[in-house]
Amino acid sequence: MADALQRYRLQPVRSSREWAAYHAIRRDAIFASLLPNQVYDEHDPDEFAPGHFPHLPLRDGEVLGTVRIDLIGKSAAALRLIGIRPDVQRQGHGHALLKLAEEAARARGKAEIVINAHPSSLDFYLANGYRGGEWADRGPIPSGLVRVGKRLPRQNIAQIGGVRGAGSGTVLKPSQTP
Ligand SMILES: CC(C)(COP(=O)(O)OP(=O)(O)OC[C@H]1O[C@@H](n2cnc3c(N)ncnc32)[C@H](O)[C@@H]1OP(=O)(O)O)[C@@H](O)C(=O)NCCC(=O)NCCS
Repeated sequence: MADALQRYRLQPVRSSREWAAYHAIRRDAIFASLLPNQVYDEHDPDEFAPGHFPHLPLRDGEVLGTVRIDLIGKSAAALRLIGIRPDVQRQGHGHALLKLAEEAARARGKAEIVINAHPSSLDFYLANGYRGGEWADRGPIPSGLVRVGKRLPRQNIAQIGGVRGAGSGTVLKPSQTP
């Protein structure tokens, strides 16, 4: 799997084209199927808040999904609105996304990850080492979601140090509005 991960990287959302892809994937993968009664707001201030970093996971340059990494307090990061394009789900891309996002958080000195998961994806997070518990986040658990978290092992970076996008130079730079 380490070799397979070499093909992936996590890229901050910058250009108007990247923002369009980010919003389209979230609409298709998350809002249309899981949150049909919620209106997706491209201009949600949370997207542009300090310490919030919208990202696209890519494999061989192809955009596959979305994740926003929010830095929380001293030691935690939250992964928000994780989604993989519906046409390429269940091919291991979600696993790669988590690995890269965890690595990016670890590179920022974070020791734990929190995710407010839709119940339909809970098994995916459990399969990736996430567990229920008292995980730090900014607010209460959003209605209908389940909070899971994971302590990042100290050796996390060394273990997957070859993954592109891991370095501080390519991830967690401030995003730009479209
Ligand atoms: C959940 C999601 C991010 C997983 O990404 P993915 O690329 O499909 O997942 P992977 O291929 O890396 O891993 C799939 C494995 O996770 C586990 N899994 C369990 N429930 C799952 C689910 N609802 N969806 C995907 N995988 C699930 C299985 O072990 C699965 O392996 P299998 O396909 O051999 O059965 C993606 O399917 C997605 O975007 N779903 C719609 C939006 C969503 O649920 N987002 C999360 C909201 S918190």
